[in-house]
Amino acid sequence: MHFYEHELRALKRANRFRERICRDDTGVDLASNDYLALAHSKPLLEATCKILSSYRTHAPKASMLVNGYHPIHRAFEKALCEANGFEEGLILGSGFSANLALIEALARRGDTLFIDEKFHASGMLATRVIEANTVRFEHNCAEHLERLLKASTATRNIVVVEGVYSMQGDLLNREIIDIANHYGAILIVDEAHSSGVVGARLMGIFDLYGITVASNHIKMGTLGKAYGSFGGYILASHHIITYLINRAKPVIYATALSLFDTLLGHQALQYILSHAQILNEEIDRRRRIVCEYLGVEMPALIAAVPIGSNTEALHIKEALQREGITVGAIRPPTVDTAIIRLIARLGESDERLQFTCKFINNFQVK
Ligand SMILES: Cc1ncc(COP(=O)(O)O)c(C=O)c1O
Repeated sequence: MHFYEHELRALKRANRFRERICRDDTGVDLASNDYLALAHSKPLLEATCKILSSYRTHAPKASMLVNGYHPIHRAFEKALCEANGFEEGLILGSGFSANLALIEALARRGDTLFIDEKFHASGMLATRVIEANTVRFEHNCAEHLERLLKASTATRNIVVVEGVYSMQGDLLNREIIDIANHYGAILIVDEAHSSGVVGARLMGIFDLYGITVASNHIKMGTLGKAYGSFGGYILASHHIITYLINRAKPVIYATALSLFDTLLGHQALQYILSHAQILNEEIDRRRRIVCEYLGVEMPALIAAVPIGSNTEALHIKEALQREGITVGAIRPPTVDTAIIRLIARLGESDERLQFTCKFINNFQVK
């Protein structure tokens, strides 16, 4: 029986049908979120394997709340806190789980959650299971958020934003941080696309804006992008982390993050911190290329290029694929109208990036 025939047919008709295509690892990757090309780093891989094999166990075996919390986890949490100026850290299964954990546990009945309308699907999904009032505010609009916070009578106000927006590529408006602080709101910043990409030390948006971390600030990140590994983390005050350990279901009821991924993430963190200057130079060069050949200013490493239609976006993606180059063709409902999402990641040549930018530029809606 084909229970979902009608729905699948509708998706195909709207050019919104999705498929997984097994990756050809020999091609040019301008689509993945492996911003610093660390997913290719053999020295990081080898160091990870060597350290891991010196332990008696190589798997977490249980939830952190049973006996799955390993010294490898604790060491990485400590390193993340030191690097980012937070009091305490909590590693968990993925960035997706981290957003679910945060929103589901923190937003209680009587609270109001203010979430940027362009926030990632993980946060939007979480808003469906909470009893708190949820309000979406206009993308990156400090004035709108301020009006809402001023009028709020909630027990706690919680503001949820991204450091760099995954599908727009723009930076969090700094005023939003000031407004959240001014109104005493809890501020959750998803740094999935900013950690490892912006800031003098490449630690993300707090680093870029020189924000002194306070007790209302929560940083969430993933190891699956610039860190070239897999997993998620939350950094916050001791008080908030203690509460999450007691209430966040993806922490309590899931096996702790794999020790391999944790160690690989730790190696990546050390690498990023010790190579921040050269990595920043590499990032800047790619920004200049994308600006020159595509006319797009990238504050991070994401170029979101507007394209006329779903069909045209797919055409561009397929034409570039024939050249051995992968870019993302992102269509509704992920975005309002189709874009080509080009990731100017390290590890690919300037020449291939220039070629791709020139090609896409012919189709860009200006
Ligand atoms: C903004 C944002 N937050 C969270 C996530 C989820 O992170 P992870 O891939 O580690 O589950 C993603 C991943 O696509 C993302 O783009």
